[in-house]
Amino acid sequence: MLECLIIYKNQKPVNIKNICCIGAGYVGGPTMAVIAQKCPDIQVTVVDVNADRISAWNDPDVEKIPIYEPGLSDIVAATRGRNLFFSTDIEKAIDEAEIIFISVNTPTKDYGVGKGKAADLKYIEICARQIAAIARTDKIIVEKSTIPVRTASTIKDILEQVGNKADFQILSNPEFLAEGTAVSDLMQPDRILIGGDIDTEAGQRAIDTLVTIYNNWVPKERIVTTNIWSSELSKLAANAFLAQRVSSINSISELCEKTGADVGEISRAVGADTRIGDKFLKASVGFGGSCFQKDILNLVYIARSYNLHEVADYWEQVILINEHQKRRFAYKIIKEQHNTVSGKKITMLGWAFKKDTNDTRETPAIAVAEILLQEQAEVVVYDPKVTEQQMVADLERYGVDAAVIREKFKVCTTAMQAVQGAYAIAIITEWDEFRELDWAAVYRQMVQPASVFDGRNILHKQTMQQLGFKYFAIGR
Ligand code: UDX
Ligand code: ADP
Repeated sequence: MLECLIIYKNQKPVNIKNICCIGAGYVGGPTMAVIAQKCPDIQVTVVDVNADRISAWNDPDVEKIPIYEPGLSDIVAATRGRNLFFSTDIEKAIDEAEIIFISVNTPTKDYGVGKGKAADLKYIEICARQIAAIARTDKIIVEKSTIPVRTASTIKDILEQVGNKADFQILSNPEFLAEGTAVSDLMQPDRILIGGDIDTEAGQRAIDTLVTIYNNWVPKERIVTTNIWSSELSKLAANAFLAQRVSSINSISELCEKTGADVGEISRAVGADTRIGDKFLKASVGFGGSCFQKDILNLVYIARSYNLHEVADYWEQVILINEHQKRRFAYKIIKEQHNTVSGKKITMLGWAFKKDTNDTRETPAIAVAEILLQEQAEVVVYDPKVTEQQMVADLERYGVDAAVIREKFKVCTTAMQAVQGAYAIAIITEWDEFRELDWAAVYRQMVQPASVFDGRNILHKQTMQQLGFKYFAIGR
């Protein structure tokens, strides 16, 4: 066996001239932009069924590309039209590429078996069928989207049954970039994970080919190769572990509020233990984003499908604490408003699930707004990067009545406008500009007594109190 592996390792990687990426979203867009920048000899084409999204990526004004990430527009400006292309011609891009990345969305199913838990693989399947129908030459297919374990075998089945005689190697190369820091995460990744069919010569050659591409800028020791199932499960496990840390500190934050302990001090003290580490211990209004909840639900679903109910319950609790944290925050606002927010203007600062992104998937803002609207508050929001259209779509998808949104939900274009006449402010996203607001001026615009509920612990309690605010933080 060892001997075979050594021989496989000596196989020359395939020489790559063309890469295609299906899906021009938060993962596909930034990842391909960085590959294009780091591999000037490779032509990278990003395709999408969404023509509006593609034309936004091609907007002559590079600041108008559809995804906001610090540093991304500069890379797109330098590479677009040189070796980075955005197109709706999916067939041509598939036909020409030696490597095809699948970066389509895999949302949680909202229908049928596994509703609310399992990942919806319909977009992946459509891609696989399309590749099978078009491909005339051998291709390496790379799963980039976050997917449940054993998706590779689904893709393989489709390719083998539907496809012609071309050879397909499937690799799993999960993306670990975090939104808001995507460019630096891609430039200096902690690790690149590549899973493939390590027991066959062709599989090993495919792995080596992808390793060679990343090795243009990532040192070899940071490129981890595994079997395909380990790679797929590592992605779910990594996100579940990270989310677990946030839920753990958030559960402690509630205890702090009862006892007089300070969650910031606890994070510092606990995080100083090198065995634990100091990252992902910031108490907040709750975690959001496209990955954490979806991946844990996936893990839970997979565990249950193997009848591992204790394992499933264990991970499910991470999500339950998160739901609790979001609700708890909204109910605290109501309680401090003498148990009624009916007819009162409540301002939400921030809608995105974290700063430096315009992504709103699973943002805690939605649950908080929904509760406040249910209590008949007038909800006014300002976020520097999220559009009103997106916020309204988020609420509608969450089941908030369209008439309620029309009457009670307003979006402003500046923070100062949004706080005028408000009884309370809820800070949902930790945008730097909220830290830097002229809070004395804000205070003057509000109804007294003016309250601030800091869902991100970004302000100083004493300063806020000196300005006259009733100030509430998380876990303090
Ligand atoms: C995450 C993973 O970090 C990334 O590796 C994976 O590829 C995709 O999922 P992302 O969802 O973009 O990335 O953002 P992340 O920075 O992980 O934050 C997730 C959520 O947790 C955010 O809502 C954030 O505000 C919250 N969070 C994070 C906290 O509340 N406290 C913390 O200490 C850290
Ligand atoms: P992620 O965060 O995983 O990148 P996004 O929703 O931002 O998710 O992006 C996924 C993209 O994939 C969307 O722009 C969507 O239009 C695209 N997409 C989904 N299915 C297909 C398909 N079959 N062919 C091409 N593009 C697709």
